[in-house]
Amino acid sequence: MTRHQARVSSELIEALWKVLDEDEFDEEIDRLKLNPADVVTKVSRTPSVVEQAYELSAPVATADADVERHRRDKPEWWPLDWQPTKVERRSLIVAPAAFLGWIGLLAVFGGSMPDLVFVGVTALVLAICYVCAMIGLPTEFVDGIRWAVRLAFLTADGVGERWDLRQKLRDEVVRPELRKWLSSQTTPSFDVVLELRNADSLSLPAGEGPLVETPAVQACEREVNRRLPGAVGLAGTRGVGKSTIIRNALDNKFTHERRQPMLGVLTSAPVRYDARDFVLHLHACVCRAVLDLLADRDDRSGSETRRLWKREYARRLTRARIARVLGNVLRWAVRTLFALGFAGLAWGRTGDVRVVVREATAFAADLVPNVRAGLSAGDLRVVAALLTLWFALRAAWSLWLFTGWPLLAWLVSSLRRRLKRTPGPRRHGPPIEALHKVAEQHLRTIRFLQTHTSGWSGKVSAPIGTEAGWSKSLAKTEQPWTHPEVVDRLRDFLALVVDVLVDGHGVLSGVTIAIDEVDKIGDPEEAQRFLNEIKGVFGVRHCLFLVSMSDDALTAFERRGIPARDAFDSAFTTMIDVRPFTLDESRDWLARRALGIPEPFVWLCHCLSGGLPRDLGRTAIALHDAHKRQKGPWHLADAARLLVRRDLDLKIRAFTHTARQVARDTAETTGRLRDLLESLRQAASADVDDLLPIAEAMRRGADGDPTPITELSAEAACYLLFCQTVVDLFGQEVDQESGTGAVAIGIADARRWMADETTLAWNHLVGLRTGGR
Ligand SMILES: Nc1ncnc2c1ncn2[C@@H]1O[C@H](COP(=O)(O)OP(=O)(O)OP(=O)(O)O)[C@@H](O)[C@H]1O
Ligand SMILES: [Mg+2]
Repeated sequence: MTRHQARVSSELIEALWKVLDEDEFDEEIDRLKLNPADVVTKVSRTPSVVEQAYELSAPVATADADVERHRRDKPEWWPLDWQPTKVERRSLIVAPAAFLGWIGLLAVFGGSMPDLVFVGVTALVLAICYVCAMIGLPTEFVDGIRWAVRLAFLTADGVGERWDLRQKLRDEVVRPELRKWLSSQTTPSFDVVLELRNADSLSLPAGEGPLVETPAVQACEREVNRRLPGAVGLAGTRGVGKSTIIRNALDNKFTHERRQPMLGVLTSAPVRYDARDFVLHLHACVCRAVLDLLADRDDRSGSETRRLWKREYARRLTRARIARVLGNVLRWAVRTLFALGFAGLAWGRTGDVRVVVREATAFAADLVPNVRAGLSAGDLRVVAALLTLWFALRAAWSLWLFTGWPLLAWLVSSLRRRLKRTPGPRRHGPPIEALHKVAEQHLRTIRFLQTHTSGWSGKVSAPIGTEAGWSKSLAKTEQPWTHPEVVDRLRDFLALVVDVLVDGHGVLSGVTIAIDEVDKIGDPEEAQRFLNEIKGVFGVRHCLFLVSMSDDALTAFERRGIPARDAFDSAFTTMIDVRPFTLDESRDWLARRALGIPEPFVWLCHCLSGGLPRDLGRTAIALHDAHKRQKGPWHLADAARLLVRRDLDLKIRAFTHTARQVARDTAETTGRLRDLLESLRQAASADVDDLLPIAEAMRRGADGDPTPITELSAEAACYLLFCQTVVDLFGQEVDQESGTGAVAIGIADARRWMADETTLAWNHLVGLRTGGR
């Protein structure tokens, strides 16, 4: 174990002990009669926990390595054979002489010296001392001082990183993993009554929680860490987790600890597609990502809107600060004048400030008897002295507000910034600066090109040169880039980024470019063209392309006769099929959010969501809210009824809405539509235990040639049967032997097939109800 690993491991242990003190875990450990020390030892040795902790500690490792490297460069402080030259010797005499001479002068004349002279001469003497020391001291000594200062800053960076690590370890690793571990220690409870101690994490927005390691996640991790990554397509139904995988890949969550991070660029596919505009947009996104990477950390702002806001905010803040300082100066001047005026009344106008100060000090020291005696004798001088004191204090306060306080705040905040700063890649050096310049120039050119075509935002531009507007732009600029040129320039730029930042400086291990939701391109032909054309950009060394498309859209396109699935499959070197959660993955997802969810409730959530992560998140939130309202133990059958009712109401609204959109072109359609709407109305008011007859009636109405109305009726019928099956399953006796878990998996399958393969789903549900498999 390296020293760094040993440190991370002790941080992990410390974080575990802290988290174990929290009520949620403390009570669970008591209940399970576990020894906290054992828990800490076992969890801290779990490979997945250790791996995550190492990943999180990468910035600390970098900071420590910087300190170590810097320590190794320790200069020799004082050359033993140093012989000062004449100039050096004189400089070394002048510096202390000037300093001591000034101290001597201060001792003698300090009392009567005007402040301005004191400040000016002190600054001058310090500057002389600094210059003489620089000239007189050996270079090694000066370098030694610089080395020590840099070491102090690097150490401070390390401290800041360690603070961050502790926080992240607790929030992102220890709590979820401890929940998972504790759940695995409990023999699964088959309790049909839900009693959660702390279920708040259940209501976390789905995207907030820890990631479940599905096969798709692992596949993407492998792709990210390939030595030469290629183009990867992600396909899966809606809400299955494609964007989640992409986001995690872009955030370097999948990049191995020993590799440098990847530069992430996220773009979303356009609604209407134009090849040239899209590649230009992609190029602009890459330029922005490079500029952001090379910008100082404080300047990184993500979007132009934020940058503009920051500029405007800084301007207004400066104006407000100046106004505040001026206000304070004015107040200070007025209060000082008042204080001096009243001091004159109290102690006479001596013209000698020292006399006034002495009198005022004596007055303040003897305040209580002075005031009592003076006030009882009706002495106005005492009143004036009190007013002097009051105004002097207010003046001192104003002075503090516009000098001392801002200075102190600035010192503290700059120290905090320094401590919290995470070391980014080196941002200087000719190759980096040249890359910065190129990125800026490309961005400017792209903006110009974008404003002179009909735009990325939607319209498809006319062929180059055919628009009247072009003649003007052509006069001002070089010929606008054609589509092949646009592609070439983007590839060229990506290759340059790789050359400079990956091969040259080694600050990155590559670039990840993600294009999410290609299905947003509504027109299947455009989508297919997009997939064929985007291939031109793929294949740059060290550039990983991640492109996602929903299965539902691919199927819809194919139904319209466009072989989009073929185009999608053939465009990529690797295809990742993102599949819904299995029961184990759903259990894992729930276990990391709440302790002690009994197994039957896991089955319930899994089959209501069909294993789709997005729906699982929604079901968990519904479960949490209802459990909270319940304020006590909650029976499985009641939970099933309530969750089904909630889901059913939403679905009935959706079915009714869709039914109303169907064209009433024949008398038969009108009749079927009336029947469907009537059945939906009945289902809305019926008890969830009595849905079966309505479902069967609806199904009978779906017989005949497939038309939109029969398909909708079949889907609605299947949905009602699904609801009835869930209520029936969880309403009966549930235990380990009853096989409810297996049936729940079957119901979850039916839930997923319902929209596309309604008949299969119906038959499957009927089979489950009659006990067949
Ligand atoms: N492996 C996972 N671990 C934990 N949560 C997940 C996982 N996969 C998906 N989720 C959660 O499921 C929700 C839906 O995922 P996401 O938005 O990525 O789906 P999608 O496939 O992109 O959907 P769409 O096709 O509608 O864009 C997210 O909130 C996400 O947090
Ligand atoms: Mg998505």
